[in-house]
Amino acid sequence: MRDKIAIITGANSGMGLATTVAMAKKGFQVIMVCRNPERGENALQKAKTESGTDHIMVDFL
Ligand SMILES: NC(=O)c1ccc[n+]([C@@H]2O[C@H](COP(=O)([O-])OP(=O)(O)OC[C@H]3O[C@@H](n4cnc5c(N)ncnc54)[C@H](OP(=O)(O)O)[C@@H]3O)[C@@H](O)[C@H]2O)c1
Repeated sequence: MRDKIAIITGANSGMGLATTVAMAKKGFQVIMVCRNPERGENALQKAKTESGTDHIMVDFL
């Protein structure tokens, strides 16, 4: 369990995705909140690759 958790809305593109990657790199457990499952899952894979971490998950509105 990580002690710092970030919940990011609008996380599948733009500033939300960039913030997801930045927070994951800083050691946060990141929960991406998205509304479209396909865009969300694609963004999750991109965020993991770009951050080089596996402590990111996605949930949906
Ligand atoms: N102040 C500044 O300097 C500055 C600079 C850049 C951006 N901004 C502002 O920051 C915001 C984000 O910009 P961005 O470039 O990152 O935009 P973006 O790439 O279009 O990303 C917007 C995100 O918000 C989600 N979203 C849009 N409408 C939504 C709704 N009604 N309910 C739930 N989620 C919704 C989108 O999800 P979907 O993919 O499902 O649509 C997407 O994940 C914008 O309001 C922009 O004007 C401000």
